[in-house]
Amino acid sequence: MTANVRIVCHRLDNGVRDLLGKEIVERIAVTELDSDADEAILAGIGAHSLRRYLPGEILDALRVFTATRSHVLLLRNLPEQDFPPTPVTGFGVETELAVTNALHFGLIQLLGLTPFAVRYENDGRLIRNVVPNPAAAGVTSSWGSDSEFFWHSDNPNLPFGEPGVDPRLFIPGYLTFFVVRNEERVPTDIMAVEDALAATDPDTLSALRAPDFSVGSAASNDVDPYGHPYVMTGVPILEFDGQGPLVRFDRGSSVGLTEPATAALDRWVAGLTAAPSEQLVMTCGDFLIFDNYRVLHRRGAFTPNPAASARWLRRCYAS
Ligand SMILES: [Fe+2]
Repeated sequence: MTANVRIVCHRLDNGVRDLLGKEIVERIAVTELDSDADEAILAGIGAHSLRRYLPGEILDALRVFTATRSHVLLLRNLPEQDFPPTPVTGFGVETELAVTNALHFGLIQLLGLTPFAVRYENDGRLIRNVVPNPAAAGVTSSWGSDSEFFWHSDNPNLPFGEPGVDPRLFIPGYLTFFVVRNEERVPTDIMAVEDALAATDPDTLSALRAPDFSVGSAASNDVDPYGHPYVMTGVPILEFDGQGPLVRFDRGSSVGLTEPATAALDRWVAGLTAAPSEQLVMTCGDFLIFDNYRVLHRRGAFTPNPAASARWLRRCYAS
């Protein structure tokens, strides 16, 4: 079976990469920019420089990505800055990463999306350092490495959103990543929701469309001091908007509320295990965005490099 995941992939020429990097370095050199307090300024600098140097074909691909409903966009060979050691405790000095942040937020702006964070996760910071944090050993978390993720969508314990709303109240529409290090060559696996449905029988699919499930957030979420509801009860796993299927699912936190719903969930999991998917091995200078409503993703367990050079992705939600 061939995976139906639609991946738009572009690679910058080295000349374009170097000019772009030089331009951003010059524009941030005389100032100090933080990824939370100065997000809009970083995005403006990044988007300006990207518009100036990226070829029209790539700018068009960014502009139409969300409208075309492709699953994934991968942009390779972006400028690299001098990177500090991997912040395996989870947080580093964001002002040291202004070039990377200008690129990351600038690309989100060119995609027509809004970056956001939720206050009950990642200390409310926009950028999540996806790193192997020794404190997360044995936990299925973006800070883990020894636990395998099964197919899931991120923050599925919320309603699906639409344009023009406060994105924090809904499942993140997109996950974006800037890759700093992946010397371990850990793949990110992507499955189109269409392939997940094709691997599931019709009776199971209709059971998954009934509001007979509770869905919680992933283990990586911090404890909510405000009693925010982490579990949504009486929701379906699959919904349909005017254009196709949407999925909210995390095996660790999705529970059937009836016996038929529990059995349907088991058959769904078995189908996902056999469904076709794509493996992406990202490297430094890659930017990745995927549709969190129409894609399931996972990564396997891995053995990280020593802390300073361990796998390091920078993730930001966008809707
Ligand atoms: Fe995830």
